[in-house]
Amino acid sequence: MRRKSEKDLMKDLTPRTIVEELDKYIIGQGDAKKAVAIAIRNRWRRLQLTGEMREEVMPKNIIMIGPTGVGKTEIARRLAGLVGAPFLKVEASKYTEVGYVGRSVESMIRDLTKVAVNMVESKMAESVQTRAAAAVNERLLKLLFQNAEDRTDEVILEVDENQQVRTLDKNRIMKDIENGKYDKRVVETEVEQPAITPVGVMSNVNFDDLGIDITDMLDNIASNFPGLPGLPKRKNKKKMTVKQARQLFMREETEKLVDREAIINTALEVVQNLGIIFIDELDKVCGKSSVTGPDISGEGVQRDLLPIVEGTTVNTRFGMVRTDHILFIAAGAFYGSKPSDLIPEMQGRFPIRVELNSLTEEDFVQILKTPKNSLTKQYVALLNAERVKVKFTEASIKEIARVAAEVNARDQNIGARRLHTIIEKVFEDISFEAPEKKGQTVTITPGLVHKKLKDIVKDANLTKYIL
Ligand SMILES: Nc1ncnc2c1ncn2[C@@H]1O[C@H](COP(=O)(O)OP(=O)(O)OP(=O)(O)O)[C@@H](O)[C@H]1O
Ligand SMILES: [Mg+2]
Repeated sequence: MRRKSEKDLMKDLTPRTIVEELDKYIIGQGDAKKAVAIAIRNRWRRLQLTGEMREEVMPKNIIMIGPTGVGKTEIARRLAGLVGAPFLKVEASKYTEVGYVGRSVESMIRDLTKVAVNMVESKMAESVQTRAAAAVNERLLKLLFQNAEDRTDEVILEVDENQQVRTLDKNRIMKDIENGKYDKRVVETEVEQPAITPVGVMSNVNFDDLGIDITDMLDNIASNFPGLPGLPKRKNKKKMTVKQARQLFMREETEKLVDREAIINTALEVVQNLGIIFIDELDKVCGKSSVTGPDISGEGVQRDLLPIVEGTTVNTRFGMVRTDHILFIAAGAFYGSKPSDLIPEMQGRFPIRVELNSLTEEDFVQILKTPKNSLTKQYVALLNAERVKVKFTEASIKEIARVAAEVNARDQNIGARRLHTIIEKVFEDISFEAPEKKGQTVTITPGLVHKKLKDIVKDANLTKYIL
């Protein structure tokens, strides 16, 4: 069992690789990409240090500032898939001050810890895959040949309905089981019903916010008082296909092979040293006047956030989590406010500021064309499902970009989001008629773009409603 440790994984993630990876999805915004890439690399660098120095190095938290729709959230989203570290994206406006109904800021640490546990768990599960699969096949074999008289290593002796003894080659059958030959057969097996907990009844109460887990609690009670009937963990016989049984057994066997305690310990290490929280919409809790809900002041939320960003210990159901070395990346449009409107302590905890630029017409052309899964590629793929071939001429892409830029300049500038509304409008009829156009090729031309949009663009009022 050889597993790349988190540290090794991150070693390959140089700032340049991170930026190159982000470049595949996001056009421009070089400064922001660089800043996050460096911040992430610094996590790895810190882990190379020892002792006091390692404790002293604090993460350099970042604020990304930029107008709406220019890629702030997109950078976060792509980063998440990239870093191989526990990553959580939250919206600042979802949190409320202590004492109000809503999520307390500490819950973000609990969520991040859960992400880390899941991450480590699935890595560990992966490492026992082969062993688990072997055990599963063995169980399926027993289940399928329950009436077998004898099971030696090589043969299975089965008595059929006419009392005839058949010899079956065990290896053959194992191969067949593995290859799914028996997948459709129905077998009967014991299934453990999940214990009934009051959680479902009180679903409005977020127990996790209280730092407790009701299932854990009940389990604890049951194990401390062996005399008690314990939790109603019922076992039921259930009929299912071999295919379904395989999934069930796979979960059970994996569970048996992985070491729960090791998972949690590793996850706690990982979350404290490598965890990243992306706080989106930070500007929504910025400034005294900004109010996120009835009577809840943004400043109050900031005050609650502060200890978490500065470093505190949060009680999670997996154990205590120190937040000192968790990296925070915040983003916001900061339209009516500035980062300097944040409470001073908060400003100090976000030393790196990067600005994202408004997008130009040329950026739009690139955004339409180049990213992996760009909008134009999405439409081609979607209509391909209807066997309609879509082609964009170079000029049509330019035209879409031009209209987007024009509308953004004249009405509200919503950045690249404008492309979505415009292209959807262009495709209105094609999307509707596609099933009847099977086998045809549809070419998107500037003329078509113009035809679909000219009346709307001309009329400022219509634009407001449609684009
Ligand atoms: N630079 C860019 N390159 C590629 N696509 C982009 C870029 N900027 C925005 N987009 C696309 O535009 C949409 C909106 O972008 P995103 O969610 O990142 O906006 P944002 O900067 O977070 O805005 P807001 O402040 O409103 O939250 C996304 O679908 C994204 O793919
Ligand atoms: Mg956003």
